Amino acid sequence: MTTSNPASDFVDDGALEDPHLRRGPRGYPLLPGGYGRSTYYTGRPSPYAVRGAGYRVWDDRDLELIDANNNFTSLIHGNAHPEITKAATAALSAGASWGIPNLYEWELADLLLERLPTLDQVRFTNSGTEAVMSAIRIARAATGRDRIVVTQGGYHGTSDVALAAGGPAYTRGVTAGVTRDVTPIPLNDVQALRDAVESAPDEYAAIILDLLPNRAGLLRITQEFVTTARELASRHGIVLIIDEVISLRLGLQGLSGAYGIAPDLLTTGKTIGGGFAVGAVVGLADLMSEVDPTRAGSLPHGGTFSGNPVSMAAGAAALRLYPESEIERLNTLGDVARATIQGNLAGSGWEIRGWGSLLRAVPEGSQKVPEDLQHKLWWESYYRGLLGSPANLLSLSTPMDKGVVDDIVDRLTDAVWAVAGNQGARRD
Ligand SMILES: Cc1ncc(COP(=O)(O)O)c(C=O)c1O
Repeated sequence: MTTSNPASDFVDDGALEDPHLRRGPRGYPLLPGGYGRSTYYTGRPSPYAVRGAGYRVWDDRDLELIDANNNFTSLIHGNAHPEITKAATAALSAGASWGIPNLYEWELADLLLERLPTLDQVRFTNSGTEAVMSAIRIARAATGRDRIVVTQGGYHGTSDVALAAGGPAYTRGVTAGVTRDVTPIPLNDVQALRDAVESAPDEYAAIILDLLPNRAGLLRITQEFVTTARELASRHGIVLIIDEVISLRLGLQGLSGAYGIAPDLLTTGKTIGGGFAVGAVVGLADLMSEVDPTRAGSLPHGGTFSGNPVSMAAGAAALRLYPESEIERLNTLGDVARATIQGNLAGSGWEIRGWGSLLRAVPEGSQKVPEDLQHKLWWESYYRGLLGSPANLLSLSTPMDKGVVDDIVDRLTDAVWAVAGNQGARRD
C-alpha cells in the first residue's frame, strides 16, 4: 500500500492535559464520562476537533485527517464550504432566529419538494430524532392506532419508540408500554413482516424503514421487503415512513427513489441543514394536515429553533450545491472505492458494504459488530489519518476527488488489515 502513516506518532504520551478530565467545583467531570454526546465515544479519551477545511479536519494535536466522518454523514460539502458559510453568515447577521415565520423555511421546503415530487408538505424539526418522533405521532393521530413495525436493530434516533427498535440493549428507561407497541422484524424477513402485520392489521399505525440501516451493519434492505411493506401498508391503511435521515444523500429522491417506493411520510435531516441542526418530516397532505395549526384539534408541534433561518439558509445552499450530477459523481467514486477495497480485503475476514457515497468495513457476514472491534478499527484508521464514525461509517463529500478517495481506500485497507491481524491471511 502507498499509505503514509501521518498519525503514526499519535500516542497517548500524557503530554497534554486531557480536557476530558476537567472537573467542576464538586469534583465531577464537566460532561458525563467526559463526553457531550455518547455517540462520540470510541473506547478511550477522544481527540478534539479544532478546525476543518474542505475534506480535511485537524485535531487538538494539529494532526491532519481526511474527514470521512463528516459529522456523521451530515457535511455533504465537507468543512466550511464558502457558499454555505456565506449563506449561514448572512442569515445569522440578520438575526439568528425569530418568533414569527421566516422566508428561509419556504425556500428549503421548496427545494426539498422539488426533489420529492410524490410528497406535498414539509415540517422542519431540529434533528432526525425529532423528525422520526413527529412522523410517528402524525401516523398514530391519523390512524387512531398505536403499534409500529420496525426492522430489528435499526436506528431512528433516541426517542422512546425509536430506541425500542434497537432491542433490550437500548430500552433501559423506556416504558414497557412503549416497547410493547413496537414490533421489530428481522431484516429482510418478508414472511415475518407479513405475519406481524396480518395478525393485527387494525392495530398498526406505521411501518418505519431505513433502507440502508447502519446500526444493522449497513446491510441493504431487499426490494421484496420494501415492496411488501408498501403493499401491506396500502392494503391496511398503515402509514409507510421511510427514514432517510442518512440516505437522502444517495439520490435526488433519496433511496426511496432508487427503490421506486413512494413513502407516505419521509423523515430526513443531516445533509439538508448544511452542517446546522435540522430535521424534517416530508409527507402527503392528508397526513401533514395533522400538524396544520389552522385545523381544529391539530397536533401541538413546535420547537423554539425549528425552521431557524441559519439552518434553513445553509441547508438551501447545500441542496443547491448538490444536483444530480454531484450525487452521481460521489456515488460513482464510492462504488469504485468499494470494489477496490473488497479486492484489497480478500482473505482478511472483512468485507466492505454500502451504497454510493456511504461505505463501511465490517467482519464478513456480520450484522451487529461488537463495539470494541468497531473502536479498534476507528483508532487504526485515525492513526492513519482517516476519520470515520465510531462505527466506521465513512461518507464522501463533494470536495473529494478520485485522489482523495484513493487515499481513503489505502488508509482503510491498511487499518482493516491491522485489526484483522492474523485472523486473515495477509495479502502481498
Ligand atoms: C436513520 C436515522 N434516523 C434518525 C437519526 C437521528 O438523527 P439525529 O442524530 O439528527 O437526531 C439517525 C442518526 O444517525 C439516523 O441514522
